[in-house]
Amino acid sequence: MSATPAVALDEAAEATHRLETAEHVTVTPLGNALGAEIGGLDLARPFTPAELEAVRAAIQDHHLLCFRDQHLGSDEQVAFSTQLGPLEVFPEQDKTKGESTVYNVANVSPEGEHLPVDDHRVIYQKVNARWHTDSSYRYIPSFVSIMYAIRVLPDGASGGETEYSNMLAAYDALPDEMKARIEPLHMVHYYEFGRRLFPELPPVSHHEKVHVPPTCHPLVRIHPDRGCRRSLFFTTNAGNEVSGMTMEDGVALHRKLASHVSRPEFCYKHRWRPNDLVLWDNRVLMHRAKGYDMARYPRVFRRTTVAGSEPILGPYSQAVEGKVRPLTAA
Ligand SMILES: [Fe+2]
Repeated sequence: MSATPAVALDEAAEATHRLETAEHVTVTPLGNALGAEIGGLDLARPFTPAELEAVRAAIQDHHLLCFRDQHLGSDEQVAFSTQLGPLEVFPEQDKTKGESTVYNVANVSPEGEHLPVDDHRVIYQKVNARWHTDSSYRYIPSFVSIMYAIRVLPDGASGGETEYSNMLAAYDALPDEMKARIEPLHMVHYYEFGRRLFPELPPVSHHEKVHVPPTCHPLVRIHPDRGCRRSLFFTTNAGNEVSGMTMEDGVALHRKLASHVSRPEFCYKHRWRPNDLVLWDNRVLMHRAKGYDMARYPRVFRRTTVAGSEPILGPYSQAVEGKVRPLTAA
């Protein structure tokens, strides 16, 4: 009888170890629409291969993951985030400090000053009170966003949550007539749109114009990793124009869709606790920041963003030709 090669024993031992480690990971759904709380992981430590696989599977299944009681410095958050892919560099040079991949989502300056409500760093946050997916203004929008809660509103204070809506479910619930209507449409996405909403913000810089020029994405997104299932893909903070439609008709359609995605059955509202780390899949979710008394409450988050890997595919993209099921007749 021949001896088992040492390498095979090593592989078997490693596989057993991964299995044991992954068993520590618990996944508890947060609601019917989307989201799960993940237990058993300390994000300051690198994932084992099995843990990374479990987290990736949970992202695919639940779209939003919440890890409680995490303790991460900026470098540790970058290290954690990079395990899911390369990070986006933020185009806004004045919103980051140190690392260009880290964004201080705060009404407190990096030096610790509670900023007045008319400070443009605070006004930027109001742009995010509208439904959007992060960095939809890029030709290749992001994969996941990662927010770490450093300072949150006290118990009993109103507002300050982040609300999420499931674009797969929202698309499925559209009437057939609407599905047919939006099937071939595209929307214009552009970073500068925030200035139309809040003209008091400083003008877009040359750097920002160069790095994030306007782009166009299909309104119906095809997901090759989900059997070419469809979802909605749009924004209300980076554009409201629909290609091929008059401004008036496009804006009316856009409003209708924004109202549709707000239906409670598609949504989950996250009430932040200190040391929460929440990551969400921008490919299938929209989100918006709920308002709060910014003059009264200091609030500090640190965000990193994992870059996407391909342009948005629509029902008529060549890359999915022959793979998208035709719409059923109304
Ligand atoms: Fe956002």
